Amino acid sequence: MKEASSDAPLKLSAVRSRALVGRQRPPGDKSISHRALLLGLLCVGETTIEGLLEGEDVLRTAEACRALGATVTRGAAGRWSVRGAGLGSLVAPRETLDFGNAGTGSRLMMGVVAGHPIAARFDGDASLRKRPMRRVLEPLIKQGARVLEEHEGGRLPILLQGSGAPFPIEYLTPVASAQIKSAVLLAGLNSPGRTVVMEREASRDHTEKMLNHFGARVTVEPYNGSGRRIALEGRPNLRATTVRVPADPSSAAFPLAAALVVPGSDVLIESVMINPLRCGLIETLLEMGADITIENRRGESGEEVADLRARYSRNLRGVEVPAARAPSMIDEYPILAVIAAFAAGGTIMRGLSELRVKESDRLAAIAAGLEANGVSCNIQGDDLYVEGAGGAVRGSGLVKTHLDHRIAMSFLIMGLASNESVTVDDASMIATSFPDFRELMGSLGASFA
Ligand code: S3P
Repeated sequence: MKEASSDAPLKLSAVRSRALVGRQRPPGDKSISHRALLLGLLCVGETTIEGLLEGEDVLRTAEACRALGATVTRGAAGRWSVRGAGLGSLVAPRETLDFGNAGTGSRLMMGVVAGHPIAARFDGDASLRKRPMRRVLEPLIKQGARVLEEHEGGRLPILLQGSGAPFPIEYLTPVASAQIKSAVLLAGLNSPGRTVVMEREASRDHTEKMLNHFGARVTVEPYNGSGRRIALEGRPNLRATTVRVPADPSSAAFPLAAALVVPGSDVLIESVMINPLRCGLIETLLEMGADITIENRRGESGEEVADLRARYSRNLRGVEVPAARAPSMIDEYPILAVIAAFAAGGTIMRGLSELRVKESDRLAAIAAGLEANGVSCNIQGDDLYVEGAGGAVRGSGLVKTHLDHRIAMSFLIMGLASNESVTVDDASMIATSFPDFRELMGSLGASFA
């Protein structure tokens, strides 16, 4: 079943399942899919994308690329072609760019628009309308963009006027955020000078890698210990190319987690991107005693990929996850919190302030979901403490998902191994990042009702 994106909530329950067994490839990486479309838009000529994530978030970005002048077509499943308008030659969209639930698509596209002499109106669903956009607008204004209209506190809908000659700036991001970094770099592409972004902790580096793949000159140096200094030469000659999208580690996390907590499971998850800046969850799970092996490491389109084998892990134990690891597993805290509920002892996850501004206030949504299913937890400042059951959790809860796909998937995974079923109030948002979640999990043996 493809989760429908109608307005009606789609209640779904997961029930205690037999051992999960088999091999599967999760959908393409969401971060890379958005970026491949955007860089395709900024090139002249044909960019081919293989393995594009056909989730709603990415389809919104494809639609926005069309509105800015690209011809975007779908061939066979996952194979897309983008004939770009070219850097400096985008057209002003006639209609509002509606990004639905997609924070990444909207913020990166704000960067693209900011570097062109066009105005565009951005909007999104109720979740996206709550999310802070000032963090992206502030550097874009320094680059020469103007915010003509915004909703209170820098929220969508926003009317942004870009500049045909963005100023070259040096910018230190206030939080480790690949979206902020990427928006600044994408605006800087059309600048006559050099744009520099510094970050105190390294965030995912797909934009830097992909810019180089398309022929731009991006250099990356260490900054202040574990941070980075990224410099981009403006107005490069971007060359249309082919992008192969590896499987998304943030989606792979769900079958992987399920295998660890459902007794008897043995699952192989294929072709998962193992970029070190996305691997914080695996690092944490190995510390917890998870039986995960990384097999058949290889390179694909500039990213390292591998097959991940995960087996039921009876002796998971709680650990402390340092704040410095947050950027490399920022989207994986909901599923980690679920796994921690099955481990023996407490798990403490530090420095989670950014979770409050995701598709939902994830910190609150995780805690409420755990409590609804009989798991003790508490939030202290920006830290989350989860008391593990050392085996199956009670379940039986109804989890509020707040339009958040990862909250929905995480608690459905909980239901596969808990004593009683777990129900989520709305599974429809799963379509934003993992449209085949139910089929893929079902083919491994997961039961939903
Ligand atoms: C993303 C960056 C992260 C992440 C999001 C995808 C990206 O957001 O949570 O799902 O593709 O750049 P932040 O930049 O806000 O940390």
